[in-house]
Parts: sequence; C-alpha cells; structure tokens
Amino acid sequence: CKTWRSNPLRSFMLFLLKVKNSTGNKPVAPLGSRILTNPNDIYKHNMWDHVQWTEEDTEFARLKTEENSSERVPLNEQVIFDRDADKMWEKFYEMHHNKFFKNRKWLFAEFPELLPLGQSRTTQPTSRLSLEKHQDNIQPASYPGEYATFRILEVGCGVGNSVFPILKTIKGTDAFVYCCDFSLKAIELVKAHPDYDTSMCHSFVHDICEEAAPFPFPLRSVDAILAVFVLSSIHPERMQGVVNRLSTYLKHGGIFLFRDYGRYDLSQLRFKKGRCLSENFYSRGDGTCVYYFTKEEVHNLFTNAGLEEIQNLEDRRLQVNRGKKVVMRRVWVQSKFRKT
Ligand SMILES: C[S@@+](CC[C@H](N)C(=O)[O-])C[C@H]1O[C@@H](n2cnc3c(N)ncnc32)[C@H](O)[C@@H]1O
Repeated sequence: CKTWRSNPLRSFMLFLLKVKNSTGNKPVAPLGSRILTNPNDIYKHNMWDHVQWTEEDTEFARLKTEENSSERVPLNEQVIFDRDADKMWEKFYEMHHNKFFKNRKWLFAEFPELLPLGQSRTTQPTSRLSLEKHQDNIQPASYPGEYATFRILEVGCGVGNSVFPILKTIKGTDAFVYCCDFSLKAIELVKAHPDYDTSMCHSFVHDICEEAAPFPFPLRSVDAILAVFVLSSIHPERMQGVVNRLSTYLKHGGIFLFRDYGRYDLSQLRFKKGRCLSENFYSRGDGTCVYYFTKEEVHNLFTNAGLEEIQNLEDRRLQVNRGKKVVMRRVWVQSKFRKT
C-alpha cells in the first residue's frame, strides 16, 4: 500500500492497464455503474466499480498477506478473541456509539429482496400448520411480528445502520423486522433511536454462535435474513454452524443476503505482522476480528447449509482519496442464497 501511496503516478499508470471497459467484460451484477474508461478521469470520483485485477496485482496481494500472516498471535492468547468477542464489541460501541458505521444506502439497490412486495409472492406463508409440523418444543406460541406477512431478520445489526433504512421503506406494509446483536450497548442504541417502532420491529440481544439460544420466532418463519459484515467477525470454525442454524429459520423460498469483506481487500493487506489468528483471519487493534472471504468459500458455506446460489460475486472497486491522490483497491463479496 505504501508503494501505491508514495508513487501515485506509477499506480495511476498501472490501474489504467487493469481497468477494463464494461462493454468488454460486463459484470453480472448491478453493483454500480461507474466504470473508469478514461485514465484522466481517475480523480473525478471517489469510487470506480468493477475493477479488474492483473496477475501482478493478485501476486502482490498474496505476498503482502503471506508476509503479514508469517507471525501469528500466540496460541495461548488466541482463545481470548473468540471467548471475549462480545466484550470486544461491547467496548467498541461504548466508545463509538452510533458514530462509526454509516447507513447502508446501497441496501435496496443491491438487495431488492428486502422489499416485501417482490418477495411475498415467492415465499410460502407461515401457517400454524407448518409451524406445528416443524417446531421443536421451544417454539414460541405467540411472538412479536406473528401477524406479519413478510419477516426480515438482520443478524449482527449493530446500531441499526440497515434496520432504520429498512423500517423507513417498509412503513405501511405488513412487514416486520427482527434484529439482533450480541452487544447490549448496540441494542440499547437501536431501541433508543427515534425511528424504533415496536409495531414494526423487535430488537434483542443474541449471540448467533450460541447453539442453544432460541430466536423469539418459529423455525421456517423468516422471508429474508441479512448478514452485513457480520460473519467475518466470527471464528472461521464457527461459521458453518451459524449459517446452518440461521437457515433453519428461513421459510422455503426465503433468501439469505450476505455482504462482507473479500480476500485481499486493502484492509487485509494493511495488517501488521503479529495480528493474524489463522489463515485470512485477523484481530484488529481493538480486539474485534475480521475474516476475508473468497466467493468459493461463501458458496460452500451456504450450499453446505442446503441453500441454492442466486448471486455470488466479488465486488472489486477502486476507492479514491481525491484530496491525497491515493488510490485503494477494495474487495467485498456479495451473495444471495435461497432456501428451496
Ligand atoms: C462490522 S459490525 C457490522 C454491523 C452492521 N451489520 C452494519 O452493517 O453496520 C459487526 C457486528 O456484528 C456483531 N456480532 C459479531 N459477532 C456476533 C455474534 N456472534 N452474535 C451477534 N452479533 C455479533 C457485532 O457486535 C457488530 O455489531
């Protein structure tokens, strides 16, 4: 990264070789349409979409990652990051309150499945009969949002940067939003928000890694599950169990929407030695953790849980700091998997 920063002209020339015109190599997903076609335009915008990487870029990133993973957090210290993950995030929200993450403005453009009208036709209604058939003893008899015709669950909702845009959009419909996080402080901030409305939303403290903890709604009752930059916080060995369990709450035809950090994102390359916990999994300075996914891993995670792939792509962008003339490569994975 330092090389890119210290030599903007060189990186500028390199990027020109890498960024292809959309007509030549059109991505399949509607992830923005700002394509850099004229090299002179690079500092005209903060972000360019659908950036292609050369082999040289990938090799550079691989070497950077190899280097910063060469020294790992000692095994006896690693346990703390998993065991105390909730405490780390609690401290994070005690410190940042609702000032850290921005509202997810791209939400409906990328995930129109969150709109009740589009989805309600493709999912089955939750009849009492189907609930009885599949319920365990612990299924709630009466629960928040039980009369809704469309139910969304956001896991790891933080302070509600997705929840509040969703609530604003579904107002006046029969939709209902559940949102949970294992940080008490985060959930307190959600509940204290002026737009929090218990007739449309139920927020609660819940650790999605906790296998025995039930959700306050029945199995197969949710139309859409949203996980935005959440699974990356979880130890890779726990992820499959989490996705399996969450999927049991989806109705048939319901959809799991996922967006998270992608392999070789700039933030991965910037880690110093000694922060790596296991391959592509790191602890940040504040004790929170982050994993960097490939789309193949995401595919396996969700299809192993019995879901069908609808979309699974790497969103590679060029983020530009126009003031400092710094160009950064960002990578995210965005995916949609349906329960058949
Ligand atoms: C990077 S933040 C993203 C917050 C939110 N999804 C957003 O997009 O703004 C990750 C969130 O996941 C939550 N989280 C991490 N592990 C969790 C777990 N095991 N159970 C519930 N929430 C968890 C954290 O507390 C934090 O709020």
